[in-house]
Amino acid sequence: MSQQNLPTEINDKQRVANYAANLVEEGMIVGLGTGSTANYFIEQLAHRKQQENLQFTTVASSVVSTIKAQQLGLTMMAIEHLSQLDLYVDGADEVSPGMSLLKGRGFDLVKEKLLAKASAEFYVLVDNSKIVTRIGELFPIPVEVSPFSWQMVLRSLQQIGGAGDLRKNANGDGLAISSQGNLIIDMVFDASLNAEELNAELNAVPGIIAHGIFYQLATTIFIGDKGEIIVRN
Ligand code: 5RP
Repeated sequence: MSQQNLPTEINDKQRVANYAANLVEEGMIVGLGTGSTANYFIEQLAHRKQQENLQFTTVASSVVSTIKAQQLGLTMMAIEHLSQLDLYVDGADEVSPGMSLLKGRGFDLVKEKLLAKASAEFYVLVDNSKIVTRIGELFPIPVEVSPFSWQMVLRSLQQIGGAGDLRKNANGDGLAISSQGNLIIDMVFDASLNAEELNAELNAVPGIIAHGIFYQLATTIFIGDKGEIIVRN
């Protein structure tokens, strides 16, 4: 047998993505997240469409997911035409014990949160590296702001004890720009603030378009852990 024909091991992200894609039912409207785990989910959906002729409609949270879904032949609708959906499926950067999430290491927070909120079910797909005891443990909290408002927002965030700065682009020689043309401020807060408190504080700051804390939005978390799948809901 040549090297190319050897069966390839799938990783934990792919395992949970396949599992979740196999829960999609005929006729559903399904929101597609953004990131490497969401990509695996999109691939498995395409596989089911091809193998089982499963009929469903997808809506993407980002340009990247739109292009991926288009290339794999998924039926898509524009987010503009939608007020609710059956299922939103996405990865996360952190998951805390109360099923709060940190998201937005990519640049598509706004649509991700809109779809998560509008969906009857929100499945979160992670491997065990994303499990934390508190939100903000591994990463700063992304806060998306209009270019004209970033200084006032940063000051408000500093007044509630945060420290942070504008995110740089990948080369480090300019600023990161979100898919919506906005800036991202990456913020660190005191570890004593929990996700509920931080969510409330950030929701109250004028000028924030979206932030990376997804509080009480996830309905089920699928955790890939060394070949096993742990389900939390
Ligand atoms: C993008 C996100 C992603 O879901 C998150 O960064 C996880 O990515 P990955 O599946 O590649 O680990 O929130 O905004």
